[in-house]
Amino acid sequence: MAQKSEVNAKSKSSKVENLLTLDYNNLTSEAVGPENGLEAADFTSLKGLLTTAAKDFNNKRKKGLLPFADLPTDQVMAKACRKLADEGRKKYENVVVLGIGGSALGTAAIFKALRPLNHNIQDNKKRGWPRLFVADNIDPEGFAAILEETDLSKTLFNVISKSGATAETMSQFMIVYERLRKSLGAEAIKEHLLITTDPENGVLRRLVKAQGLKSLPIPPGVGGRFSVLSAVGLAPLALAGVNIADLLAGAAQAVEDFKAPPMSNKALLFAGLNYLMTTKKNRPSLVMMPYSDSLARVADWFGQLWNESLGKGQLLDGSKAAIGQTAIKALGATDQHSQLQLYMEGPRDKTICFIGLEEFRCQIKIPTIFKDQDELSYLSGRGLGELLNYERLGTAKALAENGRPSLALVTPKLTSAGLGYLLQTLMLATVISGSLYNINPLDQPGVELGKKFTYGLMGRRNFEDMAERYNKIKANAKYIVS
Ligand code: PA5
Repeated sequence: MAQKSEVNAKSKSSKVENLLTLDYNNLTSEAVGPENGLEAADFTSLKGLLTTAAKDFNNKRKKGLLPFADLPTDQVMAKACRKLADEGRKKYENVVVLGIGGSALGTAAIFKALRPLNHNIQDNKKRGWPRLFVADNIDPEGFAAILEETDLSKTLFNVISKSGATAETMSQFMIVYERLRKSLGAEAIKEHLLITTDPENGVLRRLVKAQGLKSLPIPPGVGGRFSVLSAVGLAPLALAGVNIADLLAGAAQAVEDFKAPPMSNKALLFAGLNYLMTTKKNRPSLVMMPYSDSLARVADWFGQLWNESLGKGQLLDGSKAAIGQTAIKALGATDQHSQLQLYMEGPRDKTICFIGLEEFRCQIKIPTIFKDQDELSYLSGRGLGELLNYERLGTAKALAENGRPSLALVTPKLTSAGLGYLLQTLMLATVISGSLYNINPLDQPGVELGKKFTYGLMGRRNFEDMAERYNKIKANAKYIVS
């Protein structure tokens, strides 16, 4: 039986209570000691810092400089994506996103969280929605595997690039375009390509106009890593059966709750607490550790959001700096058996952020057997979700007893609204962190130089000097062992 149409389901209530709890007890000096934790005086200074940062945010928002915060209430785009999904589910068996960074990571995170983990391997009828592949790399072996798996005649390729200038996405686009033309003919391209790009600028928009290709706009001023709730994420996610109405309703609730005063405002506090841990407690790394397979890729998405936004070499006044807090992804309970030893006894340079679910969407009970074996009897009759949650709580407590600070973001159950709330809270917190560090969280100048070397090495016109610079260094390289 086909799964119920979630895409067209309107959010049942506009205000949903308690979608997220922020617990920062284990960041306090009471829990981890005065050397490692925050004290009353820190919280007093934090209140002032956050009040100023929130004012800065609201001023910028009023000037139209933070349009990502308005995406959750953009009903026009949501409606267009729901329509696309209702039509597309009848036509396509597969949707392949061609995009990278902010054009891919959010979609991959939400897809994994809100569709069954076996979505792509379910029987077509049972699934009821197209399979979704996010091709966010150009490893020929990875891309070949996706192309081999997806019959062109039953596939929609969603090319997503705000700039239209990203080498990885453009090379994938060219490969797919030519395959479609050769296999299905020039006219069929229009049925199998959806271009999501800037509404006015760039080569993709030019091609859309010249060839009458289907397209969706990415609102100006919304950067890649803040764009998941625009057409960038909404279109492919709706096509895969995600309830985008509830996702947006949860995100809108987070924007609403952002009006709360600093010490009861989750986005402000998340930013402020991590800022203090970095600058006052010398903890330059933040481990993002969901205790849920479904949320594993949220840590990936957050890694890009936090690192690309806050890792900056220049303050707002132009002076040089080296700012940032390195987000590191981990997964509970798996990484308790891989990374935790380091977090517990290694360098005192990390804050751990747990993400937890109070209740899982499915329960698996451990059978009531081996009651007479001490090593097994405590497990018998208990739930796997219950065990996973006690492991999270036990790990946080053990870290605290060892002077290792942590905080936790806990949602009652993984729902579309709850996930929208979580992601929007983290995006708001990222921009607030930019204010606290006095840097621009919306740009990424540091990634340009590497791109220029690549252009030079690939023989792009006007980048010959970059190839020369590279080859000169290479010719002199003597520390190589073969
Ligand atoms: O967050 C960002 O701005 C980047 O990660 C971009 O999303 C990424 O570089 C892809 O850019 P584009 O969408 O222009 O292809």
